[in-house]
Amino acid sequence: MSASESVWNTAPTSAPAQRGNRYTTGSAAHPAKMLPAIAAHAIRTYSQPGDLVLDPMCGIGTTLVEAVHLGRDAIGTEYESKWATVARANLALAARQGATGHATVTCTDARHLLTHIPPDRHGTAALVITSPPYGPSVHGQVRSTRETGERGVVKKHYRYSHDPHNLAHVSTDQLLDAFTQILTQCRTMLRPGGTAVVTTRPWRTRGELIDLPSAVLAAGQAAGLTPAERCVALLAGIRDGQLIARPSFFQMKNVRDARRDGIPLHLVQHEDVLIFTSHAQGHPDRPAMSRPPRCTSRGQCPSRSTDGCSVRRADARRRK
Ligand SMILES: C[S@@+](CC[C@H](N)C(=O)[O-])C[C@H]1O[C@@H](n2cnc3c(N)ncnc32)[C@H](O)[C@@H]1O
Repeated sequence: MSASESVWNTAPTSAPAQRGNRYTTGSAAHPAKMLPAIAAHAIRTYSQPGDLVLDPMCGIGTTLVEAVHLGRDAIGTEYESKWATVARANLALAARQGATGHATVTCTDARHLLTHIPPDRHGTAALVITSPPYGPSVHGQVRSTRETGERGVVKKHYRYSHDPHNLAHVSTDQLLDAFTQILTQCRTMLRPGGTAVVTTRPWRTRGELIDLPSAVLAAGQAAGLTPAERCVALLAGIRDGQLIARPSFFQMKNVRDARRDGIPLHLVQHEDVLIFTSHAQGHPDRPAMSRPPRCTSRGQCPSRSTDGCSVRRADARRRK
């Protein structure tokens, strides 16, 4: 894969094959892990050995593990203590396997990221790589009914937690406000010319598209970062020139259900990768925009459609 391609061939093998023996068994329970090849490609492309990589919402630590195996140092924060614990176990495993980078994980709300990082490390990160929580409809694994004795399909591992303050469980407007705050702190962590890579996906609520990538793009700009590239990271393999889809059971089910109802949905087999640069972090000549993106008006909403804001409408329905 060339560093200059906007389509990243990141799923030549399945997610379990990519994880191999590099992740502890507890990792499987996280509902929305990044594909290791996406993290590795971004780290190789936008940082050098010895650089510092930061993931403010690190889950089970995929970005950190890939970073330390590639000789980068890493800092991660994660809101849920159970995922922070798994991330630390994965990093301990990486160290035993010979990874040369060093990483730390702090369990905290990333909105307060800077208070947990010594001031002398501010402005030193070459790369921020992260993924905000996104639509739960595609999460989850199927448990064999033979295991449970129950009838029908049993869904497991589809929750981040039961904590209502986890950003996976707040409205999309609240998520975007919080993510803007997090990216603003990340901007302070980046060195001048550093890169922020955010992977995200659109999803559907009752058939309606929630255009999270466009909203995240606006959040990055509101945080004072400059959009530089927009790429696609494949979740499908390529064989003989054909895409080999690797959908989860619930992605397939959602698409089949929609098509049965006459909605011609396609299976989403990629992540949107939004790439920003930090030109003059910490300097007043490039202040962050004062207002975070909000889904409050048709003219400004990053996710607007011809009949209004899809993010806001979906939120209103969720609250009913
Ligand atoms: C899409 S997942 C990231 C997965 C990660 N890239 C990995 O491969 O494991 C988003 C993570 O953000 C965490 N999170 C939610 N709210 C947060 C907050 N306020 N601060 C830090 N992390 C948060 C969730 O618990 C979840 O683990």
